[in-house]
Amino acid sequence: MMEELVYGALRRCYVFFILCFVILLPSISAQGFLSIACCAESSFTNNSIHWVPDDQWFRDRKSCSNLNKGNERARIFDIESGKRCYSLATIKDQDYLIRGSFPVGETEGAQLDSLFGVSIGVTPLHLVNSSEGSVVEGIFQAADSYTDFCLVHVKGDPYISSLELRPLNGSAYLKDKSSSILKLVNRTDLGGIGETRYPEDGYDRIWKPASSLYSPANSSVTIHNNANTTVPLKVLQTAVTDSNQLEFLQNGLDNEDYNYTVILYFLELNDTVTRIGQRVFDIYINNERKEDNFDILANGSNYREGFYNVTAKGSLNLTLVKVSNRSEFGPICNAFEILQVRPRDLQTDYDDVIVIKKVKEELLMLNQGNTLIDSWSGDPCLPDHWQGLTCNSNGSTVITDLDLSASKFQGPIPPSITELTHLKTLNLSDNYFRGEIPTFPQSSNLTSVDISKNELVGSLPESLISLPDLSILYYGCNPQLDNDLPSSLNSSKLTTDSGACQRKSSGPTKGIVIGTAVCGSAVVTIALGTVIVCLYRQKLMARRKCNRNRLVMAKNLVFSIPSTDDVFVKSISIQTYTLEYIEIATQKYKTLIGEGGFGSVYQGTLPDGQEVAVKVRSATSTQGTREFENELNLLSAIRHENLVPLLGCCCENDQQILVYPFMSNGSLQDRLYGEAAKRRILDWPTRLSIALGAARGLMYLHTYAGRCVIHRDVKSSNILLDNSMCAKVADFGFSKYAPQEGDSNASLEVRGTAGYMDPEYYSTQQLSAKSDVFSFGVVLLEIISGREPLNIQRPRNEWSLVEWAKPYIRESKIDEIIDPNIKGGYHAEAMWRVVEAALACIEPFSAYRPCMADIVRELEDALIIENNASEYMKSIDSIYSLGGSNRYSIVMEKKMVLMPTPTTSEPSPINTQALAPPEPR
Ligand SMILES: *[C@@H]1O[C@H](CO)[C@@H](O)[C@H](O)[C@H]1NC(C)=O
Ligand SMILES: *[C@@H]1O[C@H](CO)[C@@H](O)[C@H](O)[C@H]1NC(C)=O
Ligand SMILES: *[C@@H]1O[C@H](CO)[C@@H](O)[C@H](O)[C@H]1NC(C)=O
Ligand SMILES: *[C@@H]1O[C@H](CO)[C@@H](O)[C@H](O)[C@H]1NC(C)=O
Ligand SMILES: *[C@@H]1O[C@H](CO)[C@@H](O)[C@H](O)[C@H]1NC(C)=O
Ligand SMILES: *[C@@H]1O[C@H](CO)[C@@H](O)[C@H](O)[C@H]1NC(C)=O
Ligand SMILES: *[C@@H]1O[C@H](CO)[C@@H](O)[C@H](O)[C@H]1NC(C)=O
Repeated sequence: MMEELVYGALRRCYVFFILCFVILLPSISAQGFLSIACCAESSFTNNSIHWVPDDQWFRDRKSCSNLNKGNERARIFDIESGKRCYSLATIKDQDYLIRGSFPVGETEGAQLDSLFGVSIGVTPLHLVNSSEGSVVEGIFQAADSYTDFCLVHVKGDPYISSLELRPLNGSAYLKDKSSSILKLVNRTDLGGIGETRYPEDGYDRIWKPASSLYSPANSSVTIHNNANTTVPLKVLQTAVTDSNQLEFLQNGLDNEDYNYTVILYFLELNDTVTRIGQRVFDIYINNERKEDNFDILANGSNYREGFYNVTAKGSLNLTLVKVSNRSEFGPICNAFEILQVRPRDLQTDYDDVIVIKKVKEELLMLNQGNTLIDSWSGDPCLPDHWQGLTCNSNGSTVITDLDLSASKFQGPIPPSITELTHLKTLNLSDNYFRGEIPTFPQSSNLTSVDISKNELVGSLPESLISLPDLSILYYGCNPQLDNDLPSSLNSSKLTTDSGACQRKSSGPTKGIVIGTAVCGSAVVTIALGTVIVCLYRQKLMARRKCNRNRLVMAKNLVFSIPSTDDVFVKSISIQTYTLEYIEIATQKYKTLIGEGGFGSVYQGTLPDGQEVAVKVRSATSTQGTREFENELNLLSAIRHENLVPLLGCCCENDQQILVYPFMSNGSLQDRLYGEAAKRRILDWPTRLSIALGAARGLMYLHTYAGRCVIHRDVKSSNILLDNSMCAKVADFGFSKYAPQEGDSNASLEVRGTAGYMDPEYYSTQQLSAKSDVFSFGVVLLEIISGREPLNIQRPRNEWSLVEWAKPYIRESKIDEIIDPNIKGGYHAEAMWRVVEAALACIEPFSAYRPCMADIVRELEDALIIENNASEYMKSIDSIYSLGGSNRYSIVMEKKMVLMPTPTTSEPSPINTQALAPPEPR
C-alpha cells in the first residue's frame, strides 16, 4: 500500500510537472535577446529573431488561446486577484529594454473585457485595456539577477501575447536616472517609410514612421567626424523640415505631473549645401525654451542629439522654430523619443523576498500544481500579497504572517521558513507535512506557531519551544510526534494544546478555536499543565527503559544534530551551456573517464578552472527533450553535501549533456577493490565515514525530496569521493529515466545492477525506498568485506556477496567476512553495528528493512564509537609512544574489557530498533 503510494507520487511528480522555480537561462540569442512567444508550440525564427515558447514559465496549455481569428496567440490568466509574473534572468546593473504585447483582445468572437496593470518588478508601468490593446515598453536597470515582468489583475483576465527583453549595452537612456524606469511614450522616425527594428537597430527598438504636415526629406548622407549613435542610419536618413517651424504635439499623457525625457535626433541631410550657421533654430518644450540658436553642425559633425528633461501632464508640445533673423533654412528633425520617467517603487524587504522564494521552491518540490502556490508570483507583498501571506509596510515592507493551513501541502516543512526574520505568526496546520520540525533561530520573533494536524515526527525542537516571544504553540494531531514538552518549560508563558488532538473542525472555525484558546489561556494552561507533567514522566520512564541496553555515548556532541545545511535547498539556477562551450571544456571529448547506461563520461575544465565530469547521453536513448528538461529542473533543485550536484546541462541539437563537478578520488568501488585499492588500502574509519555520508545522501533523497526520489541504482560505483574523501551519491533519480535497450516503457522498467538488486522489487516490480535500502546493505557488505557483490570467478557458494555473507553473520562469525586488509584496524563494537545494519538492510522482505534514517543513526553511533576508540588510542600513544603497527590491537584489548562485543544470544540494538513498528500513541 505504502509502496503504491510512493510509486504513485513518484510518477505524478514526474509526469505532471509544472515548473517555475528554476530560472533556466533559456535560449538567449547571440545578441542577448530573449523573445518569448506566449503559448507558442515551439521555438521559431522570424526576421532574424529567435522566439521561444513560454512553457518554461507557465506550463499549462489551458490558458492558451487564439486571439483575433487565430492571427495571434495569447496566454490568458484566469485569475480573480493577484498577479502573474514572468521572472526573467537579467544581469545585475545592466540596462534593458523590455516590451510586452497585448493585442486588442478578441477570442473566438468574444470580446475580452479586461483591465490589468503591467509592472516591472513592483513598479507599475501601464494599465492595459483589452478593448484598445497596447504594446508596453520599459527601459530599466536590472536590480538583481532576475527581473519580474508582471500582469496585475484589475478586472477580467490579464493576457499577453509576447514578451521581449533586450540588453542595452552602452546606451545613455538611464544615464542620470538609474533609480527610475523609463516608459516609452513615443518613438518616431520622422519622414520614414515603414517600421525599422532589428537588425538595423542593434537594440531592437521599434521606430515607427509618422505621417506629418511637414515636408519629408531624405538623403543617403552618413555621419561624419566620429559622432556616435545607436540610432539606425536608416532612421536618421529621413526627416521632416519646414521653412519656418516644426511642431509636434503629444497628447494623451497621464493627467498628473510626471517627468519626461525627450530625445531629439538630428542629422543634417543637406550637409554639402548647408554651412554652419545656415540652419539655426530654437527648441521649445511646452513653451519652455530648451535650446537657443541650436545648430546641428556646431560641434564639427553633421549629427547631434538633444536630451531634455521636462515635467508635464496631459500633453507635450515640441516646437522647433527657425531663428528668423540669422538662419537661411528652416528647422529639420529626423527622429525623436518621448519617455516617461517613473520612479521605482520599493520592493518587499530583499531578505524576505529571497527567503520566501526559497520556501516556495521547497514547497514546489512535492506540491506541483498546488493552487495556493500558483498565486505566488512576483513580489510577495506588492502591489498585493501572495495568498497566505500578510505583510506589514511600516518603513520597509516585510512578511509578518504565513498561513498555509488546510492547503493540502505534502512533504517536509520547508526549512527556510525559519529564516523569515519578521514573521510573527506561522500556521501550517491541517496539511500533510511530514518529517521533523526544523530548528528555529533564537532571533526569531514568532509569537504564534500552529503545526497541528500534520504527519510530523520526532520531537518539538528546543529551539522552537524556547523562542523568546512565543506565546502560542499548537502541535496536536501529529500521530508520530513526540508530545513531550521539556519540564524546564515555563508554561505560564506558553499556551499549547499539549499535543492533544481535540480540535476536529478545520477551516472557518479555526479562528474561533484559537480565539477561545487565547482568551481562556490561564484556565487551559493550568489544566493542561498537569497533563503535560504526567505524560512527560511516563515518556521519560519508557525512554530510560529503552536506553538501558544501549551504549550511551557522547553522541549529541558530534553527529546527531543535523546541520541546517543538511536540509537546506538553495536557490539554484542551473546553467545551460552551448555545445561549443562543452566542446571547449572537454577539449572535444578528449578524456573519457567512464561509461554507463546513460552514455559516456568525459573529464573537462570550465573557463573558471573548475574540473568537471561531462556526461553525454548516448544517441540510442529514446527519451524526449522535454522530459529531459523537466527532470533536470527537479533534480537540479536537490542539493545536499552528500549528493553530487548538477552544475548545468546542454540541450542543443537534441544533445543531452549533463555537467557535474569532478570527483577527484573516484568511486568507492575503485577504492575497495579497484586499481586504487591495490595502491592504498582504505582504512576502516574512512570506510565508515564514507558509508555514513552515502547514507545521509540517500536519507535526504528519501525523506526530503520525499516520496519522490528513489535512487534505484545504489552501488559502490555510484558513491563518489571528493578530494577530502567525502562521499557523494551520484546518478540519483536520473537513472530512473535512462531507458535500457529494448525497453518500451521507460518508467516501468525494473532497474538496478546485478548483485545489488532488491529481490522483492525484482519480483513484484513495486518500487519503494526500501529497494535502495537493500542495495545500500550490499554496499555495507562491500565495505566490510572488500568483496564485489557478484563475482562468478569465485567458488559457486561465494558468487553472491549477500548469500555468502548472510550465514556467517547469522552465526556471529563475522571475522570470516571482514576484509583481511582491515583486520585489527577496527573497533569491534563499531564493526558489529555496521554488520547488523547491513543484515537488516538485506532482509528479503522490504517491510522488515530499516529506513535510511535508522541506518544513518546506527552508522553515526558506530563512527562515534570508532572515533572514541581512536582518541583513546591516541592518548595511549602519546603516553607510551607506541609505534603505529600494533596500536589497534592494543586498543582492542583495552576496549574489550570496557565494552564486550555483543554475542548472538544478545541481539544488537539495531534489529530491535529498526524492525519495531512505531510506538502507538
Ligand atoms: C535631467 O534630470 C536629471 C535628474 O533627474 C539630471 O541629472 C540631468 O542633468 C538632467 N539633464 C538635463 C539635460 O537637464
Ligand atoms: C565614438 O566611439 C568611438 C569608439 O567607440 C570613440 O573612440 C569615440 O570617442 C566616440 N566619439 C564620440 C564623439 O563620442
Ligand atoms: C508620435 O508622434 C507622432 C508625431 O507627432 C504622431 O504622429 C504619433 O501619433 C505619435 N504616436 C503616439 C503613439 O502618440
Ligand atoms: C522631476 O524631477 C525633479 C528633479 O529631477 C524632481 O525634483 C521632481 O520631483 C520630479 N517630478 C516628478 C513628478 O517626478
Ligand atoms: C537642400 O538644399 C537644396 C538647395 O539649396 C534645397 O533645395 C533643399 O530644399 C534643401 N533640403 C533641405 C532638407 O533643407
Ligand atoms: C506649442 O508651443 C509653441 C511654442 O511655444 C507655441 O507657439 C504653440 O502655440 C504651442 N502649440 C500648442 C498647441 O499649444
Ligand atoms: C525581534 O525581536 C528583537 C528583540 O526582541 C528586536 O530587537 C527586533 O527588532 C525584533 N525584530 C523585528 C523584525 O521585529
